[in-house]
Amino acid sequence: MSIELTSFKREYPHSTPPSTSSNSVKKGFLAFRQHCIKCHTLNGEGVSIGPELNYAVSVTEYWQQKWLSRFIANPQSVRVNNKMIPFYRDIENQE
Ligand code: HEC
Repeated sequence: MSIELTSFKREYPHSTPPSTSSNSVKKGFLAFRQHCIKCHTLNGEGVSIGPELNYAVSVTEYWQQKWLSRFIANPQSVRVNNKMIPFYRDIENQE
């Protein structure tokens, strides 16, 4: 038996931002990778417990930022009876 080492970028080529991306994009992606990809796909890569978040239309296009932040922190405060768990930890605001 052997264990093959691989990189996230090799396994998830369509969701990893390009190496030329800004630091805020890279930090945001690391947070997403740590906390969200276990339930969501981004460009089809990840886990499909929750909905895909980037296509056909990205959530950042049809959600206003303040409501998106509030939904992530406390989904029930925006949509009653939805199945997403609240995100309790502080994530650094990337702006
Ligand atoms: C334990 C699984 C789980 C985790 C972890 C999770 N989500 Fe979700 N998420 C869901 C589910 C399930 C839904 C669908 C909610 C519903 O409508 O019932 C959802 C819905 C959403 C939506 C609404 C999409 C739409 O417009 O319909 C957004 C945005 C979202 N999640 C973002 C995130 C972000 C960002 C993170 C990480 C901070 C995250 N989620 C972590 C399960 C999860």
